[in-house]
Amino acid sequence: MLFPTALVFAGLVTYALAGPHARLKHPKNRTKQPTEFIEILSSFSSSDESKFNPVSVAPKTNIFISLSNDEAASVISFLHKQTELNLTAAADAGPWDNAIEVVDLVQPNKTDALHYLDHNGPIPARYALARIAFGATEEPYVQDFIVGPLPISNASTYESLDWATTSGSAKIRNYNADERLINQWNLNVTATVADIVLDLLNGTATGSKDDDFDIWGIDPLWMEEIDGEQRVILWNTYWHYPSGKNAIFDAETLLPQGLFFKSDITGRDPSKWKVLGWLYGDIFYSTTEEFRKAWRSPHFVKYKLNLPGDWIGTDQTGEPFPGDDIAPPVAVQPNGQRFSVDEEQRYVEWMDFSFYITFTRDTGLRLFDIKYKGQRIIYELGLQEAVAHYAGNDPVQSGTAYMDTFYGFGPYAFELVPGYDCPTYSQFLNGTFHASEVSKTHRNNICLFESDPGYLMQRHSSSSYLALTKNIVFTLRSVSSIGNYDYIFDYVFALDGSIETIVRASGYIQSAYYAKNNHYGKSHG
Ligand SMILES: *[C@@H]1O[C@H](CO)[C@@H](O)[C@H](O)[C@H]1NC(C)=O
Ligand SMILES: *[C@@H]1O[C@H](CO)[C@@H](O)[C@H](O)[C@H]1NC(C)=O
Ligand SMILES: *[C@@H]1O[C@H](CO)[C@@H](O)[C@H](O)[C@H]1NC(C)=O
Ligand SMILES: *[C@@H]1O[C@H](CO)[C@@H](O)[C@H](O)[C@H]1NC(C)=O
Ligand SMILES: *[C@@H]1O[C@H](CO)[C@@H](O)[C@H](O)[C@H]1NC(C)=O
Ligand SMILES: *[C@@H]1O[C@H](CO)[C@@H](O)[C@H](O)[C@H]1NC(C)=O
Ligand SMILES: *[C@@H]1O[C@H](CO)[C@@H](O)[C@H](O)[C@H]1NC(C)=O
Repeated sequence: MLFPTALVFAGLVTYALAGPHARLKHPKNRTKQPTEFIEILSSFSSSDESKFNPVSVAPKTNIFISLSNDEAASVISFLHKQTELNLTAAADAGPWDNAIEVVDLVQPNKTDALHYLDHNGPIPARYALARIAFGATEEPYVQDFIVGPLPISNASTYESLDWATTSGSAKIRNYNADERLINQWNLNVTATVADIVLDLLNGTATGSKDDDFDIWGIDPLWMEEIDGEQRVILWNTYWHYPSGKNAIFDAETLLPQGLFFKSDITGRDPSKWKVLGWLYGDIFYSTTEEFRKAWRSPHFVKYKLNLPGDWIGTDQTGEPFPGDDIAPPVAVQPNGQRFSVDEEQRYVEWMDFSFYITFTRDTGLRLFDIKYKGQRIIYELGLQEAVAHYAGNDPVQSGTAYMDTFYGFGPYAFELVPGYDCPTYSQFLNGTFHASEVSKTHRNNICLFESDPGYLMQRHSSSSYLALTKNIVFTLRSVSSIGNYDYIFDYVFALDGSIETIVRASGYIQSAYYAKNNHYGKSHG
């Protein structure tokens, strides 16, 4: 249905130049048009090879740069020695173990960073963030720790990263620690109505490879007070797997089936979990028996199936547009690159701009110390969170508000395709993140390029002079495909000193079943 994504950027500042707009006078006595402007373009294409060096040297060490693989490994090994954490190696950990989920850099405190950058102060000590899932308890939780200083020495310690949170505690209760049991529960519940599911939805969900349906629901889970007690609530629905020749398409989120069930999954003992009701055709049945009785009755209304078909694919279909087979215009970089990068320090210079880059597991690409004409205009620029909050007449759509940093923008930022994601002449960088005790590098998942936005920076014509200023922008891009969504992040720098952050959304929507849902839109049919 909708794509209502709220994106929160930190330190978003636009530094724009707005000049006075001279009122255009009608030329009463126009002199001969200057012909020089025709030569503007040719003046760029000098035949001399450019002496421009695309390799820069960072003026300072990049103190914001992600942890190296060695740093991450040393933090993991240090934490495993802390017996009170009772850690299990992530690869062997189950839901009832304690395990490290994420290791990343704790950004240096700004005062220390500025002292280093501006006043030749000491280089700030490096500290790591370690996110640990504590599963070896009846009440599982996740806690962030700060570990350091790095490199690990006898002086290194770890403590709860409480000061970095507004709540004052870096510890949060995890109500979703038993995913495998929840999957089993969903199949067990479905087994009690397998005949109804087959009749209404024409398929099965048994846990076998030839299942038609996947079962999942709200994210995050609900809390509801029932008989004076806080209970953990899960609403689920059935999603058709893309099948047949369209099985290759990742379109499951287009295929909700319109049957929902509500469960109380409080606590870690599934024998105490309960089915709290069923919903079909906007009618709620508070027990499985009631639902079954209604289904057997002659007046029970069945709705049209939402089935996979060619419509879920993204390949070209239908008649091509006229001229579609003629090569489109392409952008070129005729005289080589006009920006420079220190790949090791992740430092970039373009025209009057310079900045440092880092990459994190939670939020992906971030920029630090953005300077224009040598003056810092932004200290830190990056995504804080992306909330995808849905709506619909059903509890799964209306109960969904994904917070995508939980899944992480780093792990889902994959290699970019030259000529499609970024111009062919782009420079690419790799992104590294450390999750589940493994350091992974995704190649070429960041691109940098100059391009013509297709409109001028400035123009003016008068009877005596025509002025045209070409507009060229510099873009830093990364794309994260989190589940059904593709977030295309651009940091765009312009010659007038402005910086634009753009997020383009693509991928598959997560749709609602059409029945009784006309106020919200339709998925299909
Ligand atoms: C137009 O410009 C020419 C040359 O400057 C001048 O001789 C002429 O008087 C002008 N005509 C008018 C209508 O202003
Ligand atoms: C440590 O974790 C294991 C599971 O990995 C658990 O069985 C054990 O009870 C835990 N020990 C303590 C002291 O919490
Ligand atoms: C950074 O700031 C926090 C919050 O004020 C403080 O608790 C912490 O000790 C500082 N870290 C360093 C390395 O000075
Ligand atoms: C830590 O201290 C011990 C004993 O004081 C010493 O043997 C060891 O080498 C030290 N380790 C490091 C990493 O400095
Ligand atoms: C699912 O059903 C099986 C068989 O009755 C049972 O052993 C298992 O505990 C059930 N699991 C859950 C999570 O309800
Ligand atoms: C139900 O499923 C069967 C087997 O997959 C298929 O042959 C049949 O056409 C389906 N019925 C409808 C109404 O889609
Ligand atoms: C990216 O990773 C590849 C493969 O490890 C490596 O060859 C390449 O030099 C890296 N690129 C940069 C810009 O570091």
